[in-house]
Amino acid sequence: MTDANHLNTRHLNAGHLIIFDTTLRDGEQSPGASMTREEKVRIARQLEKMRVDVIEAGFPAASDGDFEAVRAVANAIRHSSVCALARALERDINRAGEALQNAAAPRIHTFIATSPIHMEKKLRMQPDQVIEQAVKAVNWARQYTDDVEFSPEDAGRSDPDFLCRILEAVIDAGARTLNIPDTVGYALPDQFGALIRSLRERIPNADKAVFSVHCHNDLGLAVANSIAAVLNGARQVECTINGLGERAGNAALEEVVMAVRTRADVFGCSTRIDTTQIVSASRLVAGITGFAVQPNKAIVGINAFAHESGIHQDGVLKHRETYEIMRAEDVGWTANRMVLGKHSGRNAFRTRLSELGIELGSEEAVNAAFARFKTLADKKHEIFDEDLHTLINDESFGGVPEAYKLTSLKVCSETGEIPRACVVLNIQGKEHSACAEGSGPVDATFKAIETLAHSDTELLLYSVNSITTGTDAQGEVTVRLAKAGRIVNGQGADTDIVVASAEAYLDALNALFQSLERAHPQI
Ligand code: KIV
Ligand code: ZN
Repeated sequence: MTDANHLNTRHLNAGHLIIFDTTLRDGEQSPGASMTREEKVRIARQLEKMRVDVIEAGFPAASDGDFEAVRAVANAIRHSSVCALARALERDINRAGEALQNAAAPRIHTFIATSPIHMEKKLRMQPDQVIEQAVKAVNWARQYTDDVEFSPEDAGRSDPDFLCRILEAVIDAGARTLNIPDTVGYALPDQFGALIRSLRERIPNADKAVFSVHCHNDLGLAVANSIAAVLNGARQVECTINGLGERAGNAALEEVVMAVRTRADVFGCSTRIDTTQIVSASRLVAGITGFAVQPNKAIVGINAFAHESGIHQDGVLKHRETYEIMRAEDVGWTANRMVLGKHSGRNAFRTRLSELGIELGSEEAVNAAFARFKTLADKKHEIFDEDLHTLINDESFGGVPEAYKLTSLKVCSETGEIPRACVVLNIQGKEHSACAEGSGPVDATFKAIETLAHSDTELLLYSVNSITTGTDAQGEVTVRLAKAGRIVNGQGADTDIVVASAEAYLDALNALFQSLERAHPQI
């Protein structure tokens, strides 16, 4: 059986909840979360490893960059379906079909709006015309693949009678998955669950398709609405790592998956996700996008399994289940997080990476990572799993050549004096130095770099996160720069946050310099 057949058969099994990840498409629509093709492939590989059923890789008609990114994901992934989004237009569908040409299991996801406000004000179309266009689109998409998904956009505010009509028609045209999006995050759990149930009951050919949901988090209800839908027969949930997505985001994959697993007593279905890969996926996405995870975020926040109150600690020590409904290890946090130190050898380093589910591919990459680990271990005695994730996520392993490298940095900051920074940069093989003053040490450092780089960029975001606890913890800095409509992120991590800031700034400049396509597909 080919991979494609295997995936398609699985999709029709009622006990199986299909996890459709849209981090690379809807997630990327978060302002500032655009990703390069290489970054998308890295995330897609982690999603495949986590056993996500369907990876929505992008919206190929949005830009050449997104087309290439979908194509690269389709080429790289063998064990998950790869999906491309397309409006219900022939040219969009053609682009999606071409981008998916080499996918093991291609899926085309086509959509058109069905709410009165969208049909009248945005599409300026009559309801019957919308049905006709949807049917045409599904038929057109079937030239490329049998696995066609249809979404009535803004279904949450659409007339249920109209939804029944259009969904029945697209099933007849061959749509296999009917995705019901709450595009604007307006639905409430009971009402959304009832909508899914009634669509399944009222549409005569409903048994020929899988019902899916795609919920936005504007009222903080995306996961609750998705779960309500599953309890009412939906068998696919569209979600994103860390809940990334347009505006307030989408339903968080990790929350949906762990809810279904932890409360298996109430769900008549299960996912096939390898939950131990969840924390790695979360860290990878946070690192690439620069969207840090809040400490108290369910499942993947640093405090999600930390017990502070004495009563709780006492209870957990006596019997873990007194206060824990899930095991930290089951989602990829390890029980003993202090793992390595400066005396740890290459073997221990390698073994720990593999225990964390991190594969570096080539021997060269392992050597480069080990060299960075040793440098870090000289500055910081205890290396935690979080440090290892950051070390590995460092973009220098993504193969981006560095036009700008930090050779040295000297910063003077004293109460009552203006901070001053002097940098020495290696720019395309030649050393250059400059000094500048600023309102703080980081500001002075960025100004000194700019004296040499003249990048003419706008700084959109500067954020610092402590990777672990303690004053010797590494600071992880994200810098987001914009220039001529392109947005790039840079990351740096170091025990000295001014050095981490300089590294992050240079990382962003390198991304710009490389002219990597950062498509930002907005529908
Ligand atoms: O939110 C939405 O409606 C979407 C569709 C394209 C499924 O993202
Ligand atoms: Zn969406």
